[in-house]
Amino acid sequence: MEKRPFIIDCDTGTDDAIAILAALYSPEVEVKAITSVNGNICERYVCRNNRNLTALLGKNVPVARGAVRPLLSGFVNEGHLDDTHGPTGFGTIQLPEAEQVFDPRVASELIYETAVEEKGALELLVIGPMTNIALALVQHGDLAGLIRHIWFMGGAAVGGNVTPTAEFNIWVDPEAAKIVIGSGIPMTMVGLDVTTKAIMTREDADALRACGTPAGQVAADLLAYMFTRNHSGGEDALMHDALAFAAAVCPDCLTCRDCFVDVETHGQCAYGHTFVDQRGRTGKPANVSVALEVDVSMFRKWLVDTICRSAGEK
Ligand code: BDR
Ligand code: CA
Repeated sequence: MEKRPFIIDCDTGTDDAIAILAALYSPEVEVKAITSVNGNICERYVCRNNRNLTALLGKNVPVARGAVRPLLSGFVNEGHLDDTHGPTGFGTIQLPEAEQVFDPRVASELIYETAVEEKGALELLVIGPMTNIALALVQHGDLAGLIRHIWFMGGAAVGGNVTPTAEFNIWVDPEAAKIVIGSGIPMTMVGLDVTTKAIMTREDADALRACGTPAGQVAADLLAYMFTRNHSGGEDALMHDALAFAAAVCPDCLTCRDCFVDVETHGQCAYGHTFVDQRGRTGKPANVSVALEVDVSMFRKWLVDTICRSAGEK
């Protein structure tokens, strides 16, 4: 089977790390690179987390640095925002510090060069703010025609987690999201109203630990951090980002509908809101396949099974 080439653009981030693990052990996919962006924590922590994780797993995947701030008026994370992802983005887990050097290219250039090399086959898993992708699109007029599909975690058909109407990834850099979503690239949006249903359990954590690999252990440790976080009033073990990857390789997990989507960049109350026209009221053509429902047990099984494929590499 020919593997589908992917770049993961992320703000790792506890749930980003679990999405990366799933992608690295998915038989359908070859991860060509991982690129880092300001978001859950500042970019200098994100890139270290990406590098330390791939090194721990013995995966020789290029890791590149990316945008340290949004395009215009969004949110610059100078350190970390709250305890959702812990002080350096990896919960309370301390990965060994890896020595690998970062790819010399900045994220937007790496994305463009890889898209050219892959001749239209490249897919992007975008699980942080969209700054790097917007920069690449602005710098390279032919890029949109070279990306097969974008699978992104961001926005919501209804609601938000930073404001009543804005989800974090979009709220951090709404202008970037507007550029990417309006680019004409085929894309699938996995938003907050669906990802908040994708909750992992202690049973899942036990199964991941039992697979006996570094990947299984890291995933189980991240879940254990999330359970503690939830116990102290924080977010549950929500798999926002892994669910966006599931859309790409386990599509039966999700029910999607084609909708017109845009991003509010000027609103006084609704800055960063994803405008999802589910009922075709605008008359504008659909530009995004939007996830509306998830089969949670199918997703949890897929995620555990996929990460446990690492046992086959021992
Ligand atoms: C998104 O924001 C981050 O906290 C998560 O990693 C996810 O990508 C959820 O709003
Ligand atoms: Ca993320």
